[in-house]
Amino acid sequence: MSNRDEILKSLEVVIDPELHRSIVELDMVRSIELSGNGVVDVTVSLTTPGCPIKGHFQTAVAEAVSALDGVTHVNVYFDVLNDAQKAALQQKLGRGSLPDGSLAQVSNVLCIGSGKGGVGKSTLTANLAAALVGEGKRVGILDADVWGYSIPRMYGLGSTRPPVSAERKIIPLEAHGVKVMSIGFFVEEDAAVVWRGPMLHKALSQFLKDVDWGELDYLLIDLPPGTGDVSMTLAQLLPQAQFLIVTTPQQTAQKVARRAAQMADKVSLEIGGVIENMSSFTTPSGERFTIFGEGGGKELADELDVPLLGRVPLTMPLREHADSGTPLVIEDPDDPASQAIHQVARGLIAMAPLELPVLPTLDEVVTVADQAASPKPVGMSLPMA
Ligand SMILES: Nc1ncnc2c1ncn2[C@@H]1O[C@H](COP(=O)(O)OP(=O)(O)OP(=O)(O)O)[C@@H](O)[C@H]1O
Ligand SMILES: [Mg+2]
Repeated sequence: MSNRDEILKSLEVVIDPELHRSIVELDMVRSIELSGNGVVDVTVSLTTPGCPIKGHFQTAVAEAVSALDGVTHVNVYFDVLNDAQKAALQQKLGRGSLPDGSLAQVSNVLCIGSGKGGVGKSTLTANLAAALVGEGKRVGILDADVWGYSIPRMYGLGSTRPPVSAERKIIPLEAHGVKVMSIGFFVEEDAAVVWRGPMLHKALSQFLKDVDWGELDYLLIDLPPGTGDVSMTLAQLLPQAQFLIVTTPQQTAQKVARRAAQMADKVSLEIGGVIENMSSFTTPSGERFTIFGEGGGKELADELDVPLLGRVPLTMPLREHADSGTPLVIEDPDDPASQAIHQVARGLIAMAPLELPVLPTLDEVVTVADQAASPKPVGMSLPMA
C-alpha cells in the first residue's frame, strides 16, 4: 500500500486550470487519510466555495491516486482556504510583491519588449490594449519608450498635459477607453531628450508611483527597443510584471529577441509569451507571401517554453491606423491583423492568474485614515528633464 508521501507525489499531476500550477505546489492538498482496506480520503482546499472547477479536481485527484498500488477507492472532499492560506497563495503567485500606492489596484502588468527596433511593439501594444478593452477589461498603457514615444500619436493624443489631482497625482489621459501615460505629454514635440541613469529611473518610477492609474485589469508597458536601462529599471520597480516578447518570423530577429528573453530571465521577470508580428502578407487576390520568413515565433516560444500567443500578419491598414490615431482593432475588427490581435488578447485573459481579493492590513487601514486627516502631497516633479 502506498504511503502518504507517495500519494502526495501522485497529486503533483493535478493542475489547477486557473492558476496553471499543481495543487501540491499551491498547497491546496489539505489532508490525506489512508485506511487499512485501501481507501484513501483526500481533501482539497478551494479558493472559493462555489468553485466551478470542483469536478475537474474530483476526477483528476481520483484518477491520480487510484493508479497507485493497493488503492481500492478514493474519496475526494473539499474545503475552502481561510484568509491566511489565501494570503500565502497570493504570495506564492507573485502577487504579494505588488507595490503600494498607484499600482496597488493593477492586476496584471505586461511589458511588451523585443531585442530589436521596429518589429511592431508599439503597434501591438496600442491594438492589444484596445482589444482588451473590447473584451471588457480595464486597461492602461505606459509608454516607456522615453526616447521614441509613439503611443500618443497612435491614440490620437497630442501633447496635452495631463491634469494633476487634488492628491497631487498625475491623471492619465484617456482615449478609446484606455488610460495612457507618456513622456510625450510633457516634452515639446521632437525635442531631443537625453534620458540616462538616475534621471531615467526617476522618470519611470514617477510614472508608476505618482500616476493615478486607479483600478486596472491590465497595464501594458511599451518598451523601447533593446535590452537596456529601461527594462532593468522596470524589472526592479515591478517584480510582478510579465514580459511579452515580440519577434518577426526571421531567424536573425528571433536571435535578437532571444537576447531580450535572456535579459528578462536575468532580472527574474517571468516571460508570459511570444507574439510573432509581420508573419505574412496576403495580396487582395489571396496570394500569401512570407516576406520575413516563417516559423521564428514558434521556434522562440518553444525554446523559451512559453506560449506563442499569436501570429499577426502584415496588413496595410494596421500601419495606416497607427498613424491615424485610432487602433485598427476598433476601426476594422475584421482585418486579419485585428483578428490575430484579438486572439492574443483572449489568450492573455485565459492565462491571467485568478484574482484573489486583497484585504488591507491593519497598518494600511491606519495609514489611510491618517492620510484622510491630513492629505500629504506625494513627490511630483514631472517633467524631470
Ligand atoms: N503587422 C504589421 N503590418 C503592417 N505594418 C506594421 C505591422 N506591425 C508594425 N507595422 C509598422 O511597422 C512600423 C514599426 O512599428 P512599431 O513602431 O510599432 O515598432 P516598434 O517595435 O515599436 O519600434 P521601436 O523599436 O522603434 O519602438 C510602423 O510603421 C508600424 O505601423
Ligand atoms: Mg515603439
